Amino acid sequence: MQEKENPSFDIKDSVSPEKMKMNVFEAIATRRSIRKFTSQDVPMEILGVVIDGGRYAPSSGNIQNWRFVLVKDKENKQRVAEAAMHQLWIASAPVIIVVCAETEKLKQFYGIRGDRLYSVQNCAAAIENMLLTAHCLGLGSCWVSDFDEDMLKRALNIPGDIRPQAILPLGYPDEIVPAPTHYTMENVCYFESYGTRVSNIERVMQNPLVFDKISRLFKGLIDVGKDAIEKRKGSKK
Ligand SMILES: Cc1cc2nc3c(=O)[nH]c(=O)nc-3n(C[C@H](O)[C@H](O)[C@H](O)COP(=O)(O)O)c2cc1C
Repeated sequence: MQEKENPSFDIKDSVSPEKMKMNVFEAIATRRSIRKFTSQDVPMEILGVVIDGGRYAPSSGNIQNWRFVLVKDKENKQRVAEAAMHQLWIASAPVIIVVCAETEKLKQFYGIRGDRLYSVQNCAAAIENMLLTAHCLGLGSCWVSDFDEDMLKRALNIPGDIRPQAILPLGYPDEIVPAPTHYTMENVCYFESYGTRVSNIERVMQNPLVFDKISRLFKGLIDVGKDAIEKRKGSKK
């Protein structure tokens, strides 16, 4: 395997403003899962930029255990779609990227955690990078993980120790998908301790002084609680 970056590669070629249509947060906020594609092909150099998005993802120990199987052949696409619980719309994409995880090195370096967790997390980071890059380039895709692993492996000759992580059908969108609902910040953020919610969180986030005050307050309450528990434990002995 060639380990080094090709020195003639110029990152500016990938991110020229004519190609990239939005900034990163806009891309994050406006990306949608696209399941309907026009028949327009994805040019190879554009596909290359999407792959670059994946290649530049962070990975544990920089091991970069992702591998990408690019599928353009009609019969192969059909087999992939069938392996994905017959989500046949997948085969209508001009190209499909199947993201696979090599686990050997991760197992060697990090044991069970590397094998089961980091290998999946690394690929997930690459997948999301590719979805966002595709969206920035005016392409659409969808993260598909509902598939029969053995069937997919057979369809693409994926060896026994390699684990497919996701199917990414890629093409130009032929649908406008409304934004799905998202939990509010209040629902998903806790302060200093799991489960400690704050109402009116937008106000807190806008004002660092309020944020600090709340953090100190909660930290104080948590410490008091911990002391009380320790004391009770001590008195029982
Ligand atoms: C791990 C994972 C697996 C998914 N698997 C499928 C799938 O098999 N088929 C599908 O149509 N969408 C799949 N999706 C897409 C989700 O349905 C979609 O991301 C979610 O409804 C939110 O919509 P959005 O992507 O437009 O924000 C998957 C997404 C993730 C992250």
